[in-house]
Amino acid sequence: MTHVVTEACIRCKYTHCVSMCPVDAFREGPNFLVIDPEECIDCTLCVAECPVNAIVPEDELTDGQREYLALNATLAKAWPRIVEAHPALPDADEWAKVGEKREWLEASGTSHTSVASPAIRQAPIPTVR
Ligand code: F3S
Repeated sequence: MTHVVTEACIRCKYTHCVSMCPVDAFREGPNFLVIDPEECIDCTLCVAECPVNAIVPEDELTDGQREYLALNATLAKAWPRIVEAHPALPDADEWAKVGEKREWLEASGTSHTSVASPAIRQAPIPTVR
């Protein structure tokens, strides 16, 4: 089994989870983190650290979250390891209130900075429903 980073992380990237991981299983993309399922040991230490409850055990994924299992596995092969927490993305607290963020996931590219690109920064924050 593995733990999986899900939709709630998108455009927030608080990174509190990273410093708890004893095997450095997190990988970092532009506006999302994933867990490498080949390295996760299911210690569960990261789960409580995430302020938006984005980290879910594989066997507790909802139907709507299930696609993130494959996404974590795929993106973990493309993105660099992250081992230290850093400041969250700009507007993270606003994006934390947004429920549906899948369309905002940037699946390409890499990022080792907490500063979003100008294009990202200018994107409107959807109205919370
Ligand atoms: Fe994402 Fe939560 Fe970690 S927002 S970066 S899974 S602390």
